[in-house]
This record gives sequence, C-alpha cells and structure tokens, in this order.
Amino acid sequence: MKFFLDTADLDEIKEAASWGAISGVTTNPSLYAKIGGKLSNFEEHIGKICELVDGPVSAETIKMTKDEIVEDARRLSRIAPNVVVKIPTMVEGLAATHQLLQEGIPVNMTLCFSVTQAILAARSGARYISPFVGRFDDISENGLNQLEDVVAAIQNYSFPSVNGEEVEIIAASLRSPNHVAQAALMGADIATVPFNVLKQCVQHPLTDRGLERFLEDWKKVEQA
Ligand code: E4P
Repeated sequence: MKFFLDTADLDEIKEAASWGAISGVTTNPSLYAKIGGKLSNFEEHIGKICELVDGPVSAETIKMTKDEIVEDARRLSRIAPNVVVKIPTMVEGLAATHQLLQEGIPVNMTLCFSVTQAILAARSGARYISPFVGRFDDISENGLNQLEDVVAAIQNYSFPSVNGEEVEIIAASLRSPNHVAQAALMGADIATVPFNVLKQCVQHPLTDRGLERFLEDWKKVEQA
C-alpha cells in the first residue's frame, strides 16, 4: 500500500517527503482553507506541492455542472503533469470524468460512500476512487466495513483508466493508525493520511520503551 499525504501544508509535505514516506498528496477545499489559502494563489500553491512530490497531487474542482467541471479540470491539469483532478461522485462528476478520460486527464473521484458509487466512478474512467472512512464513524456507522465492501467489489473486476492504468482505491478520511492498518489488510491501494496520523503510524510505546532501555544499558557498557 502506498501513502499519500492529505494536506495542503507545504512544511508537512516537505517533512514527510524527506522520510521517503509519501507517493502523492491529496488536497481539498477545506484543507486549503485550513492553511489560510487565497483563491488568487491556488494554482501557484498546487504548483509548489507538485514540485515537492514525485507522484500524483489531487486538486479539487468546486464546479457543479459537467461543462464547468471539464473546463476547470483542463485548467487544473495544466498546472503540472502530476496533477490529478478531484471530482465529487455525482452525476455531473461521472459525465465530466468520462469526458476527461478521452482527453487523458486523470481523475480522483472523491466523496465516495457506497459500493455502487465506486463501481460507477470506476466505470466512468476514474483513475482513483476515494471511499471515506472517518465520516461514517462520525455518524456512528462503521467506515471500515464500508471501505472493505468497496475494495472487494472493485477487485472483482478490471477497470482501465487513463493510459490503460487500472483504477486504484485511495482509502480516505482516515483518522487513526488502526484505520491505516485495516485499509492495508483489506488491500486498499493507497491510504491518504493527515500528517498527525502519519506520525502516529511511526510510533509505538514498545519502541519508545525498548529504545530507553537500550540507551540506559549502553551507559553501563561505556562505564565498564
Ligand atoms: C480525501 O481525499 C479527503 O481529502 C480527506 O481524506 C477527507 O478527510 P476528512 O473526512 O477527515 O475531512
């Protein structure tokens, strides 16, 4: 499973990239707003992210009709060769994705919450599908079960996208290392994680305790 970083924060991206940990980045309007992003700087900011990451960078459209989405997607895809256009899973989004497939523009279909949405997204030619986990948990449903169903359904078939590459599932809206671990066990292709969750994924209390003991014992070796 690959890791994408779910953020628009350049410092977080630089740090995670220095670990060799991330294969891409996903952004959304909320994440851009969170870093105090301005509309006039949006394209420039996405361009900076694309320079920092050797992999796909999802930039989301906020347009609502097919023609507007297609036009916006063309504009976003001109920012850098590694831009992937993030489009919500809705009728207009499917139609736009189908059009963009003919133009070789890769799409990440976002806000996916069901098996049927995922299959239709794949059928329309999406390069990535992003089933959300945490937002199910937010409404007291089991997001991991939903993700498992989507992974199983998509793996039953072959869904070629741009350049004949197979659709990949991005487990999204992940809020904990357990979400990440379960996504890997299910066979999700990618986990997109906020920086704090990525850091938590590196940590384990037994690693800390073991390190403490090694350091203490090494002092004894030096004194002998
Ligand atoms: C995915 O691409 C989304 O940007 C993200 O994972 C949503 O996460 P949230 O539900 O924590 O906002």
